[in-house]
Amino acid sequence: MKKILVTGGAGFIGSHVVRLLVNKYENYHIFNLDALTYAGNLENLQDIENKSNYTFIKEDLTNESGINELFEVHKFEGVIHLAAESHVDRSILDPLSFAKTNILGTLNLLNAFKNTHKADFTGKRFYHISTDEVYGALGDEGFFTEETSYSPNSPYSASKASSDHFVRAYGETYNLPFVITNCSNNYGPNHFPEKLIPLCINNIIKRKSLPIYGDGKFTRDWLYVIDHARAIDLVFHEGKNAETYNIGGFNEWKNIDLVKELCKQMDEVLGRDEGESEKLITFVKDRPGHDLRYAIDASKINKELGWEPSVTFKEGLAKTIAWYMDNQQWLNNITSGDYQEYYKAQYRK
Ligand code: NAD
Ligand code: TYD
Repeated sequence: MKKILVTGGAGFIGSHVVRLLVNKYENYHIFNLDALTYAGNLENLQDIENKSNYTFIKEDLTNESGINELFEVHKFEGVIHLAAESHVDRSILDPLSFAKTNILGTLNLLNAFKNTHKADFTGKRFYHISTDEVYGALGDEGFFTEETSYSPNSPYSASKASSDHFVRAYGETYNLPFVITNCSNNYGPNHFPEKLIPLCINNIIKRKSLPIYGDGKFTRDWLYVIDHARAIDLVFHEGKNAETYNIGGFNEWKNIDLVKELCKQMDEVLGRDEGESEKLITFVKDRPGHDLRYAIDASKINKELGWEPSVTFKEGLAKTIAWYMDNQQWLNNITSGDYQEYYKAQYRK
């Protein structure tokens, strides 16, 4: 039985990765390490929590001795590292917590992995899940490729860029076998409603205003989360050692157009008059250092590993809306308590 450690498995993307691996690989034991911060939620994994090849471990990546002990006991052969502080706006409010988890937490994992296997890395792999935001901002033209130089603009992307560099440096210095992927914006079920799409779905249901930063012309490439999880499975098993792969949805949207499309689909689902939800759109103060445009050239993973998205944006958005409509208790549990405090601080005029 191969022991694989997934970090951040109670979060948005991590929960889809854990579910895929637990269901697909009966010869793996999947350990899900997560500190259960505001973004971690074991409700995301209720359907697999009793599977015999799955174990949840509540631990914080910044607890060096705790991480070392876990590696001493389990000697994980593979690590798929997703745990992170992930929201740009929160990184602007509190950069230090991003440095602690994303940089120091990654270093603790790298050290534990290196010290456990003592240079015998045969059959081992450390996989770091990263973001396209490390590349900085594009103008109206062009795409990020694996050769684009790093130019992070937010405390979040700076912390992810730093952790990418540490992973690569451990590969060069200690021969640690690694792979890194840099993915564009994900959307789908279980997405925490601080991010644009689930925030708007929640606010449309509750007839609250839809805050659009600046002029709304900022552009993102969106990928359905299950297609990201499929790519992670593929890269973990078939990606080349010491390589980076960009993952994207071939699906660019200006924020304002995306929110209008969401309003249109939600009006239909909620049986509201056409144009009703669009009236909730409100332009608010821009995010400081807001990157204009992200766009991924995902041709390397497509050509070398044969990956491509399995759903169109229209299908993915419809599935996402249906999931939130069917899981309003999940949404209500998450948007009570601390979320209200964050929301007030972030969106006060
Ligand atoms: P998320 O915020 O939904 O989940 C993060 C998880 O990490 C949570 O379960 C949280 O409890 C856990 N965590 C946070 N700090 C921790 C710590 N100190 N110790 C242990 N666990 C901790 O994030 P997500 O959107 O699922 O993103 C997962 C990964 O993918 C991140 O590394 C992120 O940078 C990367 N990524 C995200 C996107 C996106 O669009 N969401 C795109 C590209 C890359
Ligand atoms: P977000 O979902 O936070 O992802 P990221 O910052 O990692 O790309 O934001 C996506 C885009 O939506 C980004 O350009 C910022 C914008 N945005 C708004 O206009 N209003 C909002 O309330 C939020 C959360 C984001």
